[in-house]
Amino acid sequence: MKLWGGRFESGPAKLFEDFSESLSFDRRLLEADLVGSKAWALALERVGILSAEERSRIHEAFDRMLEASRDPSYLDGATDEDIHTFVIRKLEEEAGAVAGKIHTGRSRNEQVATDFRWWLKGEIRASQQRLTGVMAALLDFAQREPNAVLPGYTHLRRAQAVLWSHYCLAYFEMFARDWERLEQAHDRADVLPYGSGALAGSGFPHDREAIARDLGFSKISRNSLDVVSDRDFALDFLFAASTTMLHISRLAEDWILYSSEEFGFMEPGDEVTTGSSLMPQKRNPDALELIRGKTGPVIGSLHALMVTIKGLPLAYNRDLQEDKPPVFNAADHLAGALEVLELAIRTTQIRPAVMEKAAQDSWTQATALAEFLARRGVPFHRAHQIAGGLVLASVKEGKKPQDWTLEQLQAIAPEFDAEAAELLQVRRALENHTPPGGTAPATVQAACQAAADRLAAMRREP
Ligand code: ARG
Repeated sequence: MKLWGGRFESGPAKLFEDFSESLSFDRRLLEADLVGSKAWALALERVGILSAEERSRIHEAFDRMLEASRDPSYLDGATDEDIHTFVIRKLEEEAGAVAGKIHTGRSRNEQVATDFRWWLKGEIRASQQRLTGVMAALLDFAQREPNAVLPGYTHLRRAQAVLWSHYCLAYFEMFARDWERLEQAHDRADVLPYGSGALAGSGFPHDREAIARDLGFSKISRNSLDVVSDRDFALDFLFAASTTMLHISRLAEDWILYSSEEFGFMEPGDEVTTGSSLMPQKRNPDALELIRGKTGPVIGSLHALMVTIKGLPLAYNRDLQEDKPPVFNAADHLAGALEVLELAIRTTQIRPAVMEKAAQDSWTQATALAEFLARRGVPFHRAHQIAGGLVLASVKEGKKPQDWTLEQLQAIAPEFDAEAAELLQVRRALENHTPPGGTAPATVQAACQAAADRLAAMRREP
Protein backbone atom coordinates (compact mmCIF):
# COMPACT_ATOMS: atom_id res chain seq x y z
CA MET A 1 0.00 0.00 0.00
CA LYS A 2 1.04 3.58 -0.71
CA LEU A 3 -0.36 6.83 0.67
CA TRP A 4 0.15 8.39 -2.75
CA GLY A 5 0.06 7.06 -6.35
CA GLY A 6 -2.86 8.59 -8.21
CA ARG A 7 -0.61 10.82 -10.21
CA PHE A 8 1.70 8.02 -11.34
CA GLU A 9 1.41 5.63 -14.28
CA SER A 10 3.79 3.00 -13.04
CA GLY A 11 5.57 3.10 -9.70
CA PRO A 12 9.02 3.45 -8.23
CA ALA A 13 11.67 0.87 -9.10
CA LYS A 14 12.20 -1.83 -6.51
CA LEU A 15 15.79 -0.66 -6.21
CA PHE A 16 14.65 2.82 -5.25
CA GLU A 17 11.92 1.52 -2.94
CA ASP A 18 14.50 -0.41 -0.99
CA PHE A 19 16.75 2.62 -0.91
CA SER A 20 14.07 4.96 0.36
CA GLU A 21 12.29 2.85 2.97
CA SER A 22 12.53 3.95 6.57
CA LEU A 23 10.42 1.28 8.25
CA SER A 24 13.59 -0.58 9.24
CA PHE A 25 14.37 2.23 11.70
CA ASP A 26 11.28 4.38 12.15
CA ARG A 27 9.42 1.29 13.42
CA ARG A 28 10.63 2.62 16.70
CA LEU A 29 8.03 5.38 16.38
CA LEU A 30 5.16 2.88 16.27
CA GLU A 31 3.71 3.73 19.67
CA ALA A 32 4.18 7.46 19.02
CA ASP A 33 2.40 7.13 15.68
CA LEU A 34 -0.53 5.24 17.19
CA VAL A 35 -0.94 7.63 20.11
CA GLY A 36 -0.56 10.60 17.77
CA SER A 37 -3.07 9.16 15.31
CA LYS A 38 -5.60 8.69 18.09
CA ALA A 39 -5.28 12.38 18.91
CA TRP A 40 -5.61 13.16 15.21
CA ALA A 41 -8.85 11.15 15.02
CA LEU A 42 -10.21 13.23 17.89
CA ALA A 43 -9.19 16.36 16.05
CA LEU A 44 -11.04 15.14 12.95
CA GLU A 45 -14.13 14.52 15.03
CA ARG A 46 -13.95 18.08 16.39
CA VAL A 47 -13.91 19.52 12.87
CA GLY A 48 -16.76 17.27 11.75
CA ILE A 49 -14.83 14.92 9.42
CA LEU A 50 -15.41 11.88 11.63
CA SER A 51 -18.66 11.11 13.41
CA ALA A 52 -18.41 10.17 17.08
CA GLU A 53 -19.12 6.59 16.08
CA GLU A 54 -16.42 6.54 13.40
CA ARG A 55 -13.91 8.11 15.73
CA SER A 56 -14.69 5.53 18.37
CA ARG A 57 -14.29 2.66 15.90
CA ILE A 58 -10.94 4.08 14.87
CA HIS A 59 -9.87 4.49 18.49
CA GLU A 60 -10.79 0.92 19.30
CA ALA A 61 -8.77 -0.27 16.33
CA PHE A 62 -5.77 1.81 17.43
CA ASP A 63 -6.11 0.43 20.95
CA ARG A 64 -6.06 -3.12 19.61
CA MET A 65 -2.98 -2.20 17.57
CA LEU A 66 -1.28 -0.71 20.62
CA GLU A 67 -1.96 -3.92 22.49
CA ALA A 68 -0.73 -6.12 19.63
CA SER A 69 2.37 -3.99 19.17
CA ARG A 70 3.69 -5.09 22.57
CA ASP A 71 4.68 -8.29 20.76
CA PRO A 72 8.02 -7.52 19.10
CA SER A 73 7.05 -9.66 16.10
CA TYR A 74 4.17 -7.30 15.27
CA LEU A 75 6.10 -5.69 12.43
CA ASP A 76 7.66 -8.88 11.11
CA GLY A 77 7.36 -9.21 7.35
CA ALA A 78 6.03 -5.66 6.84
CA THR A 79 7.38 -4.01 3.69
CA ASP A 80 5.68 -0.61 3.95
CA GLU A 81 7.52 2.54 3.01
CA ASP A 82 7.54 3.85 6.56
CA ILE A 83 5.87 3.43 9.94
CA HIS A 84 3.09 5.89 9.05
CA THR A 85 2.11 3.85 6.00
CA PHE A 86 2.26 0.66 8.06
CA VAL A 87 -0.10 2.09 10.67
CA ILE A 88 -2.68 3.20 8.09
CA ARG A 89 -2.55 -0.16 6.30
CA LYS A 90 -3.09 -1.97 9.62
CA LEU A 91 -5.91 0.42 10.50
CA GLU A 92 -7.63 -0.56 7.28
CA GLU A 93 -7.32 -4.22 8.25
CA GLU A 94 -8.69 -3.49 11.72
CA ALA A 95 -11.38 -0.90 11.05
CA GLY A 96 -12.23 -1.24 7.34
CA ALA A 97 -13.17 1.59 5.01
CA VAL A 98 -13.37 4.29 7.69
CA ALA A 99 -9.57 4.09 7.85
CA GLY A 100 -9.56 5.99 4.58
CA LYS A 101 -10.59 9.13 6.50
CA ILE A 102 -7.80 9.18 9.07
CA HIS A 103 -5.31 10.99 6.88
CA THR A 104 -7.75 13.84 6.08
CA GLY A 105 -5.80 17.07 5.78
CA ARG A 106 -2.79 15.42 7.40
CA SER A 107 0.70 15.29 5.97
CA ARG A 108 3.38 12.84 6.94
CA ASN A 109 5.62 15.88 7.28
CA GLU A 110 3.73 17.09 10.34
CA GLN A 111 3.06 13.52 11.42
CA VAL A 112 6.71 12.46 11.52
CA ALA A 113 7.66 15.69 13.30
CA THR A 114 4.93 15.06 15.89
CA ASP A 115 5.86 11.40 16.38
CA PHE A 116 9.55 12.14 16.66
CA ARG A 117 9.05 14.89 19.23
CA TRP A 118 6.65 12.75 21.25
CA TRP A 119 9.09 9.84 21.25
CA LEU A 120 12.05 12.05 22.10
CA LYS A 121 10.27 13.61 25.07
CA GLY A 122 9.86 10.14 26.57
CA GLU A 123 13.43 9.18 25.77
CA ILE A 124 14.77 12.36 27.38
CA ARG A 125 12.84 11.61 30.57
CA ALA A 126 14.33 8.10 30.59
CA SER A 127 17.83 9.53 30.04
CA GLN A 128 17.34 11.94 32.94
CA GLN A 129 16.29 9.05 35.16
CA ARG A 130 19.39 7.07 34.26
CA LEU A 131 21.53 10.14 34.84
CA THR A 132 20.11 10.67 38.32
CA GLY A 133 20.92 6.99 38.99
CA VAL A 134 24.56 7.75 38.22
CA MET A 135 24.48 10.88 40.37
CA ALA A 136 22.98 8.97 43.27
CA ALA A 137 25.71 6.32 42.95
CA LEU A 138 28.42 9.01 43.02
CA LEU A 139 26.86 10.63 46.06
CA ASP A 140 26.63 7.28 47.82
CA PHE A 141 30.29 6.64 47.03
CA ALA A 142 31.21 10.07 48.44
CA GLN A 143 29.29 9.39 51.62
CA ARG A 144 30.60 5.83 51.95
CA GLU A 145 34.19 7.15 52.03
CA PRO A 146 33.90 10.55 53.71
CA ASN A 147 37.50 10.48 55.03
CA ALA A 148 39.40 9.21 52.00
CA VAL A 149 42.04 11.57 50.61
CA LEU A 150 43.52 11.41 47.13
CA PRO A 151 46.03 13.51 45.26
CA GLY A 152 44.27 15.95 42.98
CA TYR A 153 46.06 16.33 39.66
CA THR A 154 46.95 19.05 37.22
CA HIS A 155 48.89 18.05 34.10
CA LEU A 156 48.45 14.52 35.48
CA ARG A 157 51.02 15.44 38.16
CA ARG A 158 50.15 15.30 41.85
CA ALA A 159 49.05 18.82 42.73
CA GLN A 160 47.08 19.21 45.96
CA ALA A 161 45.27 16.71 48.13
CA VAL A 162 41.47 16.60 47.95
CA LEU A 163 38.84 14.50 49.63
CA TRP A 164 37.51 11.57 47.63
CA SER A 165 34.04 12.92 48.28
CA HIS A 166 35.07 16.26 46.77
CA TYR A 167 36.31 14.41 43.70
CA CYS A 168 32.96 12.56 43.40
CA LEU A 169 31.08 15.84 43.68
CA ALA A 170 33.07 17.28 40.76
CA TYR A 171 31.44 14.74 38.46
CA PHE A 172 28.11 15.22 40.22
CA GLU A 173 28.24 18.87 39.13
CA MET A 174 28.96 17.95 35.50
CA PHE A 175 26.06 15.52 35.47
CA ALA A 176 23.77 18.06 37.12
CA ARG A 177 24.46 20.42 34.22
CA ASP A 178 23.87 17.57 31.77
CA TRP A 179 20.54 16.95 33.46
CA GLU A 180 19.65 20.61 32.96
CA ARG A 181 20.66 20.44 29.31
CA LEU A 182 18.36 17.44 28.89
CA GLU A 183 15.61 19.41 30.61
CA GLN A 184 16.12 22.23 28.11
CA ALA A 185 16.09 19.73 25.23
CA HIS A 186 12.81 18.37 26.60
CA ASP A 187 11.34 21.85 26.65
CA ARG A 188 12.40 22.39 23.03
CA ALA A 189 10.89 19.08 21.92
CA ASP A 190 7.67 19.86 23.76
CA VAL A 191 6.04 21.75 20.88
CA LEU A 192 3.17 20.30 18.82
CA PRO A 193 3.50 20.25 15.01
CA TYR A 194 0.08 18.69 14.26
CA GLY A 195 -2.22 21.11 12.48
CA SER A 196 0.61 22.44 10.28
CA GLY A 197 -0.18 20.37 7.18
CA ALA A 198 2.58 19.62 4.73
CA LEU A 199 4.03 23.12 5.03
CA ALA A 200 1.34 25.77 4.79
CA GLY A 201 -0.82 25.06 7.84
CA SER A 202 -4.06 23.11 7.96
CA GLY A 203 -6.99 23.65 5.62
CA PHE A 204 -9.34 22.58 8.46
CA PRO A 205 -10.24 24.72 11.47
CA HIS A 206 -8.35 22.62 14.02
CA ASP A 207 -8.17 23.55 17.67
CA ARG A 208 -4.46 22.97 17.89
CA GLU A 209 -4.29 23.73 21.61
CA ALA A 210 -6.73 20.89 22.18
CA ILE A 211 -4.61 18.49 20.11
CA ALA A 212 -1.58 19.57 22.15
CA ARG A 213 -3.42 18.86 25.40
CA ASP A 214 -4.55 15.44 24.14
CA LEU A 215 -0.97 14.51 23.26
CA GLY A 216 0.69 16.03 26.32
CA PHE A 217 2.50 18.83 24.51
CA SER A 218 2.70 22.06 26.48
CA LYS A 219 2.99 24.37 23.45
CA ILE A 220 1.95 24.51 19.79
CA SER A 221 4.31 25.58 17.02
CA ARG A 222 4.01 29.13 15.76
CA ASN A 223 4.96 28.59 12.13
CA SER A 224 4.06 25.68 9.88
CA LEU A 225 6.99 26.04 7.47
CA ASP A 226 9.38 26.01 10.39
CA VAL A 227 7.96 23.13 12.38
CA VAL A 228 7.74 20.60 9.56
CA SER A 229 11.41 21.09 8.78
CA ASP A 230 12.91 22.06 12.16
CA ARG A 231 15.14 19.42 13.66
CA ASP A 232 17.10 21.55 16.07
CA PHE A 233 15.11 20.01 18.91
CA ALA A 234 16.90 16.78 17.94
CA LEU A 235 20.23 18.61 17.78
CA ASP A 236 19.61 19.92 21.29
CA PHE A 237 19.18 16.37 22.51
CA LEU A 238 22.26 15.19 20.63
CA PHE A 239 24.31 18.01 22.11
CA ALA A 240 23.08 17.19 25.61
CA ALA A 241 23.82 13.51 24.97
CA SER A 242 27.29 14.31 23.60
CA THR A 243 28.19 16.50 26.57
CA THR A 244 26.98 13.82 28.96
CA MET A 245 29.09 11.25 27.15
CA LEU A 246 32.11 13.57 27.31
CA HIS A 247 31.75 13.77 31.06
CA ILE A 248 31.19 10.06 31.42
CA SER A 249 34.21 9.46 29.25
CA ARG A 250 36.43 11.65 31.45
CA LEU A 251 35.33 9.76 34.53
CA ALA A 252 35.98 6.46 32.76
CA GLU A 253 39.44 7.65 31.76
CA ASP A 254 40.23 8.67 35.37
CA TRP A 255 39.18 5.30 36.69
CA ILE A 256 41.01 3.34 34.01
CA LEU A 257 44.15 5.15 35.17
CA TYR A 258 43.36 5.00 38.89
CA SER A 259 42.73 1.26 38.73
CA SER A 260 45.97 0.53 36.87
CA GLU A 261 48.85 -1.14 38.72
CA GLU A 262 50.74 2.16 38.40
CA PHE A 263 48.17 4.07 40.47
CA GLY A 264 46.54 1.29 42.48
CA PHE A 265 43.89 3.65 43.87
CA MET A 266 40.89 1.48 43.16
CA GLU A 267 39.61 -1.90 42.13
CA PRO A 268 36.62 -2.18 39.80
CA GLY A 269 34.33 -5.11 40.61
CA ASP A 270 34.22 -8.38 38.71
CA GLU A 271 30.83 -7.21 37.44
CA VAL A 272 32.52 -4.72 35.09
CA THR A 273 35.90 -6.27 34.30
CA THR A 274 37.06 -8.97 31.91
CA GLY A 275 39.98 -11.32 31.55
CA SER A 276 42.36 -12.08 28.72
CA SER A 277 42.12 -15.14 26.50
CA LEU A 278 45.90 -15.48 26.69
CA MET A 279 47.24 -13.76 29.80
CA PRO A 280 45.73 -15.43 32.85
CA GLN A 281 46.62 -12.66 35.30
CA LYS A 282 44.75 -9.89 33.44
CA ARG A 283 41.80 -7.99 34.79
CA ASN A 284 40.80 -5.39 32.25
CA PRO A 285 38.52 -2.38 32.76
CA ASP A 286 36.56 -3.08 29.55
CA ALA A 287 33.32 -1.54 30.79
CA LEU A 288 35.01 1.80 31.37
CA GLU A 289 36.86 1.55 28.08
CA LEU A 290 33.62 0.88 26.19
CA ILE A 291 31.93 3.79 27.92
CA ARG A 292 34.82 5.97 26.74
CA GLY A 293 34.66 4.34 23.31
CA LYS A 294 30.95 4.90 22.78
CA THR A 295 31.45 8.62 23.22
CA GLY A 296 32.84 8.76 19.66
CA PRO A 297 29.68 7.56 17.89
CA VAL A 298 27.46 9.83 20.00
CA ILE A 299 29.46 12.93 19.09
CA GLY A 300 29.45 11.60 15.51
CA SER A 301 25.63 11.54 15.60
CA LEU A 302 25.49 15.22 16.47
CA HIS A 303 27.83 15.96 13.61
CA ALA A 304 25.88 13.72 11.21
CA LEU A 305 22.55 15.46 11.83
CA MET A 306 24.08 18.93 11.62
CA VAL A 307 25.51 18.11 8.22
CA THR A 308 22.18 16.63 7.09
CA ILE A 309 20.34 19.83 7.96
CA LYS A 310 22.90 22.26 6.65
CA GLY A 311 21.80 23.75 3.32
CA LEU A 312 18.26 22.29 3.23
CA PRO A 313 15.85 24.73 1.58
CA LEU A 314 12.54 25.33 3.35
CA ALA A 315 10.49 23.38 4.14
CA TYR A 316 10.40 19.56 4.37
CA ASN A 317 12.93 17.61 2.29
CA ARG A 318 13.28 13.87 2.24
CA ASP A 319 16.82 14.25 3.53
CA LEU A 320 15.13 14.78 6.89
CA GLN A 321 14.29 11.09 7.02
CA GLU A 322 17.97 10.68 7.91
CA ASP A 323 17.35 12.48 11.19
CA LYS A 324 16.25 9.39 13.06
CA PRO A 325 19.17 6.89 12.92
CA PRO A 326 21.66 9.26 14.59
CA VAL A 327 19.19 10.13 17.34
CA PHE A 328 18.25 6.49 17.98
CA ASN A 329 21.92 5.45 18.00
CA ALA A 330 22.93 8.22 20.34
CA ALA A 331 20.02 7.48 22.68
CA ASP A 332 20.95 3.79 22.81
CA HIS A 333 24.63 4.43 23.46
CA LEU A 334 23.78 6.99 26.12
CA ALA A 335 21.33 4.64 27.84
CA GLY A 336 23.82 1.76 27.86
CA ALA A 337 26.71 3.92 29.03
CA LEU A 338 24.72 5.44 31.90
CA GLU A 339 23.43 2.09 33.13
CA VAL A 340 26.84 0.42 32.98
CA LEU A 341 28.47 3.44 34.60
CA GLU A 342 26.09 3.28 37.54
CA LEU A 343 26.95 -0.40 37.96
CA ALA A 344 30.68 0.38 37.71
CA ILE A 345 30.41 3.09 40.36
CA ARG A 346 28.43 0.86 42.70
CA THR A 347 30.85 -2.07 42.40
CA THR A 348 34.19 -0.25 42.57
CA GLN A 349 36.24 -0.22 45.78
CA ILE A 350 38.81 2.43 46.49
CA ARG A 351 42.06 1.94 48.42
CA PRO A 352 42.19 5.01 50.68
CA ALA A 353 45.60 4.13 52.18
CA VAL A 354 47.26 3.97 48.76
CA MET A 355 45.61 7.19 47.64
CA GLU A 356 46.56 9.09 50.77
CA LYS A 357 50.16 7.85 50.68
CA ALA A 358 50.45 9.07 47.10
CA ALA A 359 49.26 12.50 48.20
CA GLN A 360 51.30 12.51 51.41
CA ASP A 361 54.66 11.44 49.99
CA SER A 362 54.80 13.75 47.02
CA TRP A 363 54.69 17.21 48.56
CA THR A 364 51.10 18.04 47.63
CA GLN A 365 51.17 19.96 50.94
CA ALA A 366 53.82 22.43 49.66
CA THR A 367 51.21 25.04 48.74
CA ALA A 368 49.76 24.86 52.26
CA LEU A 369 53.21 25.63 53.72
CA ALA A 370 53.70 28.59 51.39
CA GLU A 371 50.24 29.87 52.30
CA PHE A 372 51.07 29.41 56.00
CA LEU A 373 54.11 31.67 55.61
CA ALA A 374 52.01 34.21 53.70
CA ARG A 375 49.54 34.29 56.61
CA ARG A 376 52.51 35.05 58.87
CA GLY A 377 53.38 38.07 56.76
CA VAL A 378 55.98 36.62 54.41
CA PRO A 379 55.42 37.95 50.85
CA PHE A 380 53.99 35.08 48.82
CA HIS A 381 56.78 35.11 46.28
CA ARG A 382 59.31 34.57 49.08
CA ALA A 383 57.05 32.00 50.78
CA HIS A 384 56.82 30.09 47.52
CA GLN A 385 60.62 30.11 47.25
CA ILE A 386 61.00 28.75 50.78
CA ALA A 387 58.49 25.93 50.29
CA GLY A 388 60.10 25.11 46.94
CA GLY A 389 63.50 24.95 48.67
CA LEU A 390 62.06 22.53 51.20
CA VAL A 391 60.87 20.25 48.40
CA LEU A 392 64.23 20.45 46.65
CA ALA A 393 66.10 19.58 49.84
CA SER A 394 63.75 16.65 50.45
CA VAL A 395 64.26 15.32 46.95
CA LYS A 396 68.05 15.60 47.32
CA GLU A 397 68.13 14.00 50.76
CA GLY A 398 65.50 11.36 50.00
CA LYS A 399 63.22 12.72 52.75
CA LYS A 400 59.47 12.58 52.93
CA PRO A 401 57.48 15.63 54.11
CA GLN A 402 56.69 13.99 57.44
CA ASP A 403 60.43 13.39 58.07
CA TRP A 404 60.99 17.11 58.71
CA THR A 405 61.11 18.13 62.37
CA LEU A 406 59.97 21.52 63.59
CA GLU A 407 63.59 22.48 64.38
CA GLN A 408 64.67 21.64 60.84
CA LEU A 409 61.76 23.64 59.43
CA GLN A 410 62.63 26.64 61.61
CA ALA A 411 66.23 26.48 60.42
CA ILE A 412 64.86 27.15 56.94
CA ALA A 413 62.35 29.85 57.95
CA PRO A 414 61.93 31.12 61.51
CA GLU A 415 58.22 31.85 60.83
CA PHE A 416 57.49 28.10 60.80
CA ASP A 417 55.90 26.87 64.03
CA ALA A 418 54.01 23.85 65.36
CA GLU A 419 51.03 24.62 63.11
CA ALA A 420 53.31 24.51 60.06
CA ALA A 421 54.64 21.13 61.18
CA GLU A 422 51.05 19.86 61.28
CA LEU A 423 50.49 21.00 57.72
CA LEU A 424 53.05 18.40 56.66
CA GLN A 425 50.11 15.98 56.94
CA VAL A 426 48.00 16.33 53.76
CA ARG A 427 44.87 15.63 55.74
CA ARG A 428 45.59 18.71 57.82
CA ALA A 429 46.66 20.77 54.80
CA LEU A 430 43.34 20.34 52.98
CA GLU A 431 41.38 21.49 56.03
CA ASN A 432 42.25 25.10 55.22
CA HIS A 433 40.19 24.99 52.00
CA THR A 434 37.04 26.14 53.76
CA PRO A 435 35.38 28.61 51.34
CA PRO A 436 32.42 27.21 49.40
CA GLY A 437 33.48 24.95 46.54
CA GLY A 438 36.66 23.87 48.34
CA THR A 439 37.76 20.55 49.78
CA ALA A 440 37.74 21.18 53.56
CA PRO A 441 35.77 18.34 55.23
CA ALA A 442 32.98 20.53 56.63
CA THR A 443 32.64 22.35 53.32
CA VAL A 444 32.38 19.07 51.42
CA GLN A 445 29.91 17.70 53.95
CA ALA A 446 27.68 20.71 53.35
CA ALA A 447 28.14 20.33 49.58
CA CYS A 448 27.10 16.67 49.81
CA GLN A 449 23.97 17.63 51.70
CA ALA A 450 23.12 20.33 49.16
CA ALA A 451 23.78 17.86 46.32
CA ALA A 452 21.44 15.31 47.90
CA ASP A 453 18.71 17.95 48.13
CA ARG A 454 19.20 18.96 44.51
CA LEU A 455 19.13 15.35 43.41
CA ALA A 456 15.89 14.76 45.27
CA ALA A 457 14.38 17.78 43.50
CA MET A 458 15.53 16.46 40.10
CA ARG A 459 13.96 13.10 40.86
CA ARG A 460 10.68 14.79 41.78
CA GLU A 461 10.44 16.52 38.35
CA PRO A 462 7.83 14.91 36.03
N1 ARG B 1 9.49 8.63 6.16
C1 ARG B 1 9.44 10.05 6.04
C2 ARG B 1 10.40 10.66 7.07
O1 ARG B 1 10.83 9.97 7.94
C3 ARG B 1 8.07 10.54 6.32
C4 ARG B 1 7.72 11.81 5.62
C5 ARG B 1 7.54 11.58 4.19
N2 ARG B 1 7.13 12.78 3.53
C6 ARG B 1 7.29 12.95 2.23
N3 ARG B 1 6.93 14.07 1.77
N4 ARG B 1 7.80 12.04 1.46
O2 ARG B 1 10.76 11.82 6.99
